[in-house]
Amino acid sequence: MHDTIVILDFGSQTSQLIARRVREHQVYSELLPWNVVSERVQALRPKGFILSGGPNSVYEPGAPRVPAYVLEAGVPILGICYGMQALTHALGGSVAASTEREYGPATVNPLISNPLLPESEFSVWMSHGDRIETLPDGFIRLAESDNSPFAAMGDLSRGYFGVQFHPEVHHTPFGSEMLRRFVVEACGAQSDWTPEAIIDESVARIQAQVGNQRVLSAVSGGVDSSVATALVHRAVGDQLVAVFVDNGLLRKNEPEQVVETFREHLGVQLFPVNAVEDFMAALAGVTEPEQKRKIIGEKFIRIFEEQARRLEQPPFLVQGTIYPDVVESSAPDRAQAHKIKTHHNVGGLPEDMVFDLVEPLRYLFKDEVRAVGEALDLPTNMVWRQPFPGPGLAVRCLGEVNWDRLERLREADAIFREELSLAGLLRMKQSKGGISGSAQAFAVLLPVRSVGVMGDLRTYQEAVALRAVTTEDFMTADWARLPHELLARIANRIVNEVSGVNRVVYDITSKPPSTIEWE
Ligand code: XMP
Repeated sequence: MHDTIVILDFGSQTSQLIARRVREHQVYSELLPWNVVSERVQALRPKGFILSGGPNSVYEPGAPRVPAYVLEAGVPILGICYGMQALTHALGGSVAASTEREYGPATVNPLISNPLLPESEFSVWMSHGDRIETLPDGFIRLAESDNSPFAAMGDLSRGYFGVQFHPEVHHTPFGSEMLRRFVVEACGAQSDWTPEAIIDESVARIQAQVGNQRVLSAVSGGVDSSVATALVHRAVGDQLVAVFVDNGLLRKNEPEQVVETFREHLGVQLFPVNAVEDFMAALAGVTEPEQKRKIIGEKFIRIFEEQARRLEQPPFLVQGTIYPDVVESSAPDRAQAHKIKTHHNVGGLPEDMVFDLVEPLRYLFKDEVRAVGEALDLPTNMVWRQPFPGPGLAVRCLGEVNWDRLERLREADAIFREELSLAGLLRMKQSKGGISGSAQAFAVLLPVRSVGVMGDLRTYQEAVALRAVTTEDFMTADWARLPHELLARIANRIVNEVSGVNRVVYDITSKPPSTIEWE
């Protein structure tokens, strides 16, 4: 069992980030709701607790409290924002209600040398309403800021700390190191949550679950299904059979890469199904985006069902569910989101088709999934693939989806991404530590024809829109400021090399008000 840090979630939007930051130091952490039954937490034998931020005020009726077992555990505690206030309240200090929130960047000055904070002033991100008024017994002030006399506090003998700011967000550059100091130095947790350890453990868990029975997997070329499949293959070898449904909606060369990687490179028993004509027939004449999505989802289920029967339906099915999909949350909106996603994942199969699910990525964040994928020797461009929508190019081929238009789009998209990649502007692995290049970049084929001239001839052809965005979380995004010379070269190449396209435009809207995809 790994040394574990338990993060109790008081409902902040950034609680998951705390768990990710801790894991970046290769210390295992779990995020659990603050009111989870104590046995769940105690079974993990935590080496320390982190109490997250949250939207409440400690004196409100029904406000989340620090559970007694946390204070009785005799291990270090770090309270962040609301977590700091709840800790103060629980230990007999007082918190002042405030009607105004402090929100945004601030500078914090350490007051005395201590195990968590740097020696000199540092920048942080503040987001809090209430603030500490009197410290609990045994605590001292560790740092102050202009607006927060108690920016950080600590009881060094017990290893209890509280910070008013958010160490988990990028806007607190020292935050990651602060969390490392807390979990590794204050709590003494081992940094043993490495990709190799994750693989060994997953292999043992999968073997114990599956025994000598057969397992079915559907690979799509996406990161999660690829890594999950490779892990299960590592665990059970030829007991695994994988199905790849080529729906004709992947990007250039992707279907070939999926087959090559799994079959030739990893030696997985992979059954490719060429369902291109099926999908094209089902999509013929359909232009409405939601209808496209529905048709693609249903068609996939029916083909998958047929393949599962053909393969004498193995009892187990691999699912690429990752930690953010299953983590229980105190925030009602996220609990709801989880329900929808789960339903979406397992829904659609006929009732007589029941699988036991093998979910080897259930405890992993996306970064960890990628690190495991690399350790399993999956190709870099598969492991670091930019997000790609499930319905594939169908939602980037505006208007009717047919083979000719898809090929046109595929070519234009390949040229765009190739040029970005050559210019070092297609963000993949190098993204850590800041934005460089676009987080998502693709071409969109518009259902618009316009007039052009090529030599002496007048043309009347389709237009391609290029979309490249910078973003951290895909919830908001800005358009990438690509160099004009690069855009000129890409437009030139697309118009010259892709038949049927005589115009290229660049999308300069941010999200919101636009979305990243066009459909
Ligand atoms: P939007 O367009 O809403 O996209 O700004 C945000 C992110 O979600 C991806 N996306 C999808 N992914 N199925 C998916 O699996 C979909 O139907 C879908 N629509 C959008 C999009 O590529 C972007 O990364």
